[in-house]
Amino acid sequence: MSTYAPQNPHLPFGDQRTAPWYGKSIVSVNQFSREDLTYIFAVAHEMREMVVRIGTFDLLKGKILANLFYEPSTRTSSSFTAAMERLGGSVIPINEVKYSSVSKGESLPDTIRSLECYADVVVLRHPQKGASALAARYARKPIINAGDGAGEHPTQALLDLFTIREELRQVDGLTVTMLGDLRYGRTVHSLARLLSLYNVKINYVSPEVVAMPREIIAELEAKGIPQAEYTALEACLPETDVLYVTRIQKERFENPEEYEQVKGAYVITPETLKAAKERMIVMHPLPRVGEISMDVDDDPRAAYFRQMEYGLYVRMALLAMVLGKA
Ligand code: CP
Repeated sequence: MSTYAPQNPHLPFGDQRTAPWYGKSIVSVNQFSREDLTYIFAVAHEMREMVVRIGTFDLLKGKILANLFYEPSTRTSSSFTAAMERLGGSVIPINEVKYSSVSKGESLPDTIRSLECYADVVVLRHPQKGASALAARYARKPIINAGDGAGEHPTQALLDLFTIREELRQVDGLTVTMLGDLRYGRTVHSLARLLSLYNVKINYVSPEVVAMPREIIAELEAKGIPQAEYTALEACLPETDVLYVTRIQKERFENPEEYEQVKGAYVITPETLKAAKERMIVMHPLPRVGEISMDVDDDPRAAYFRQMEYGLYVRMALLAMVLGKA
């Protein structure tokens, strides 16, 4: 359960006080227990059914979300906007901070304090690790971490896990193979931590220079999660139930030569998948820049476009929860 409660919560409706996530920020997957996940996925499942049945409904009518993005985004930004609007609420979009007072030198705490005067919840993407935790310390309204540099991307990990559950019907007993940029990839950092709540095996496949950070491997080892590291996919693909592919993130490399050495290290093609199980899924947080060939898209195991849609339902669930309506 979250330790990021607002300093001075406003509790306009009596019954909201009993909702466990009401007014809480979501900054790290470490806030979630397995019971929390079961609850979130049940709410997300209901959201999915409601969207399929009636499209838009007024659960969050009158509520306002500030979407504050210091880095580019297609999926996270637009799915939070869609989630809020499908729930009947509205959105203040700040997708290009250069057009806001950030460009005049305004600090993150001051920007947050400003936005919470107008909005009920703030979704924040920021290039610095720890930015969302910092924002949550100053905020009276819930902050939702939409990616903090190479730190975490908790809502992505939640939607990733929801995808696995919806597609494969279980998480316990699975072998998950993470491939690509595991050093800077915040989605895999968050997902590895969430998976450690289940009985899984995790393989890491990457060039050595972008290997999974030692502290995350140690964290999972302490929880008894079997893990193995490889530089080639062939050795572990046949046992894989979930192949989680990531982009090598050019923008995070301090040394461009290092990027040049590892770019294009892995490309998943129909030929690659011949060695994979019939019943497995290929995931990717997207955007992709060539690490999964477009020829794979029509393979029923390619789950990455369905994964984006699952994100809408998970983000609807999270907004409803932190605003006391789930
Ligand atoms: N997966 C993800 O975070 O995508 P965006 O960068 O487009 O938001």
